[in-house]
Amino acid sequence: MTRIDKPITIISNRAPYQLKKKFGQLTCEKNAGGLASVLDEIMCRRGGAWIAWGEKSEVFREMGIPLDTPKYSLRLVSLTDEEVKNYYHGFSNRVMWPLSHYFLDRCHFRSDYWKGYLEVNKKFARSFREDCADQDQVWVHDFHLTLLPALLRKERADLSIGFFWHIPFPASPVFRVLPWRAEVLRGLLGNDLIGFHLRLHAENFLQCVEDVLRVPVDREQASIRYDGRVVKVRVFPVGIDFRKWNELAATPAIAEKSRQLREEVRVEYIILGVDRLDYTKGIRERLLAYERFLEKYPEFHGRVCLVQIAVPSRTRVEEYRLLRREIDEAIGRITGRFGNRKWVPLRYLYQGFPVEELAAFYLAADLALITPLRDGMNLVAKEYVACRVREDGVLILSEFTGAAGTLTDALLVNPYDIDGLADAIRFALSMPEEEKRARMQRLRQAVSEKDVYWWCESFLETLIRTRETERDITPLTQVRDEEERS
Ligand code: F6P
Repeated sequence: MTRIDKPITIISNRAPYQLKKKFGQLTCEKNAGGLASVLDEIMCRRGGAWIAWGEKSEVFREMGIPLDTPKYSLRLVSLTDEEVKNYYHGFSNRVMWPLSHYFLDRCHFRSDYWKGYLEVNKKFARSFREDCADQDQVWVHDFHLTLLPALLRKERADLSIGFFWHIPFPASPVFRVLPWRAEVLRGLLGNDLIGFHLRLHAENFLQCVEDVLRVPVDREQASIRYDGRVVKVRVFPVGIDFRKWNELAATPAIAEKSRQLREEVRVEYIILGVDRLDYTKGIRERLLAYERFLEKYPEFHGRVCLVQIAVPSRTRVEEYRLLRREIDEAIGRITGRFGNRKWVPLRYLYQGFPVEELAAFYLAADLALITPLRDGMNLVAKEYVACRVREDGVLILSEFTGAAGTLTDALLVNPYDIDGLADAIRFALSMPEEEKRARMQRLRQAVSEKDVYWWCESFLETLIRTRETERDITPLTQVRDEEERS
């Protein structure tokens, strides 16, 4: 067994599977999302445990995964309705999420949310204590569980704890607005290693520690001496399973599906947007830009169609319901304004799709319009690139995504600049074929170089090294992250 294959405990809000009982038989459905499936693969190789929130319907607390030949154990922390309301819908999605994406006006700093968040973090800690006492390596994920590392550390000084922050980490003046800023930072400082997508996020975190806790930060080593330990901060931009997407898009079945899609849409140019329905994704602004494009460039009428896929998300949170209404309204307006008997300028699909269907959409689209107002990484942009097996197609990408750091051959845009975005659409559609190809080749190179396996293994290797040596050999100042390679 190599060091990297040692058993580990992963702790995340979402489980990799949904467990259901159908006709008295336990079934296990993989949750969509590349990251969960890669981590699941790693877990099958290493063994250990995965602790996550279990839906109330999931009456099973612990089971071996995969069900037929168990390789690791999945432990579900069951939460009451009240806990889900305060911890998930409340503090996670109405405080940490909008704050980290710079949407201060959407934050609801309520003490009942905070109490619920604290209680659920404690519940996760309890689950680890009760069920995983034999484990000595833990990998915690994301903004739902910031208090957990310190809770684990209090009980087990010997634990090796790594944490990955999957969303943007805001600048200090923004983060300091959080009434529980010190508690959240102290929670995170229970880790040995904290990973971010971008150097910018890592630097913001270090600055917050200095400003809020008044704890000195070693910028040269990107580390913090805290409570008699060293906490390391490193940059690991997450990738996708490039090979899997590339191979999928190259299959005749997907090529056929994509041909059918083109036939149904019946225009010269398909523009594609794929997002969770979230206000951070800039869907509203994108629609305004498309409307502006149709106003400004009538020569494209009848020749172009925007296919917008919006995957329902966090539907019990008010901000998401309001957004849905706003988007419905904009879609109706644009379709009514420009559409006619022969031409539908916009197709809106409010649903999730399996990967095979998504690959067909990616393959069918001449242009991907990925314009979040802010995004930690954005894997859709990378999936589009991986599916362009003919090395054509253009990617328009918001400069406020983590992915913009490496995908510099995309057309990088400011998603708030509606006129600029309208012009970028025209520019992309009119781009000479050789330029499209040259850009796409470089994009594919960038996406294939650092895939999700690279991400996972680099994080875990660093976590092991972090415990073995106090001084890591790759300080933050020497890490060439995505932004620097541009
Ligand atoms: O990108 C952050 C994240 O929380 C992911 O971990 C998750 O897959 C995604 O947003 C969807 O959010 P939720 O789990 O709330 O549906």
